[in-house]
Amino acid sequence: MFSKLSTRGIASRLSCMAQKSQPNETTPKNTSRSEAVFAREQKYGAHNYHPLPVALSRGEGVHVWDVEGKRYYDYLSAYSAVNQGHCHPKIIQALTEQSKKLALTSRAFYSDVLGEYEEYITKLFGYDKVLPMNTGVEGCETACKLARKWGYVKKQIPENKAKIIFARNNFWGRTLAAISASSDPSSYGGFGPYMPGFELIDYNNVEQLEKALQDPTVCAFMVEPIQGEAGVVVPDEGYLRKVRELCTKHNVLWIGDEVQTGLARTGRMLAVDYEEVRPDILILGKALSGGVYPVSAALCNDEVMLCIKPGEHGSTYGGNPLGCRVAIAALEVLQEERLAENAFKMGQLLRKELSKLPKEVVSVVRGKGLLNAIVINSKYDAWDVCLKLRDNGLLAKPTHGDIIRFAPPLVINEAQMLESIDIIKKTILNM
Ligand SMILES: Cc1ncc(COP(=O)(O)O)c(C=O)c1O
Repeated sequence: MFSKLSTRGIASRLSCMAQKSQPNETTPKNTSRSEAVFAREQKYGAHNYHPLPVALSRGEGVHVWDVEGKRYYDYLSAYSAVNQGHCHPKIIQALTEQSKKLALTSRAFYSDVLGEYEEYITKLFGYDKVLPMNTGVEGCETACKLARKWGYVKKQIPENKAKIIFARNNFWGRTLAAISASSDPSSYGGFGPYMPGFELIDYNNVEQLEKALQDPTVCAFMVEPIQGEAGVVVPDEGYLRKVRELCTKHNVLWIGDEVQTGLARTGRMLAVDYEEVRPDILILGKALSGGVYPVSAALCNDEVMLCIKPGEHGSTYGGNPLGCRVAIAALEVLQEERLAENAFKMGQLLRKELSKLPKEVVSVVRGKGLLNAIVINSKYDAWDVCLKLRDNGLLAKPTHGDIIRFAPPLVINEAQMLESIDIIKKTILNM
């Protein structure tokens, strides 16, 4: 129908539709503005999410506000993308200044920001090179491609035979490759056929890893240092050191998926820093842009990175000047504000206080830094707990039915931490 209209016709029609469906105009007097927001998303958007009923319109630091002006602590931080706090002034300044100068060149040309960013991030994390992408799942997919290519070029794996090992309950996104590595039926069910050459072993299981790596066609083992989406599952101390040792012994690349755990979230710049080990390929995303723009990265040394040649991988937006400028600012904020140290300290306080909660409601408290979860006893419903937390001014989301993740922005100060702990205590004690 629109093809028959002129461009101006389309614009005026769309603007008229937008005006007609403003919440204030379509909402009956007794329906809240929030409900109008829920109803419009429900009507016009795909039903691929089940959001907690809260309609947000503003964020600053550790807080977000709904369309009715109510303030909340954000205890999800957009799944750890907002480590630096909502709308951090330095990151927003980088975004606005660069957006007025040059936003996108594509990689058909050089830009005066990409090299600066590449030098900055590789020196910061100690790798020879970076391959810039946008979302976390693209970073992970890039790592898989790098590993397969290395497997053929350097490890001499026969063509099309390369295998990548993953840990059960991993989560690295929603593309066909990512769900092919998933052990969660709600993630992969109904979307086959799946990517060949992916195999699963148990997380935190050194014996299974050692056995799997003996297969000479294995090129990589990809693992999260703490499984975030699985419900903040922390492996035994020493597991990551063992992963490093076994991957080296069997000439297999270790891919560290730090999309959620990285960038100060767990109380160190990288979660692998706790065991003083380094993956061969490091994947970063989410907080690499402080939550204002999708920026992800795969970092590795020349031996692996230079296996990919011009034309063999890329992305129109990956490495664009806007994303690069934002990422430099986001990384600077983490260091200047010592957010890893703060996450470490505030995380200890949070877990200490949460562990005093009655065991008949909260059976487990776990986590590192400010990546934490509580397990709600089956007598209670984690969704109901989250609704009550919302009513009391704190936003968190349940996962896997009985787990609630507590991951506030890392800029949270002690007074805010104590106030938010009070909200959690008051809520749990009244369940
Ligand atoms: C560990 C991990 N890797 C990858 C991803 C995918 O990131 P994105 O949603 O930006 O594609 C996620 C997302 O939650 C994640 O937690």
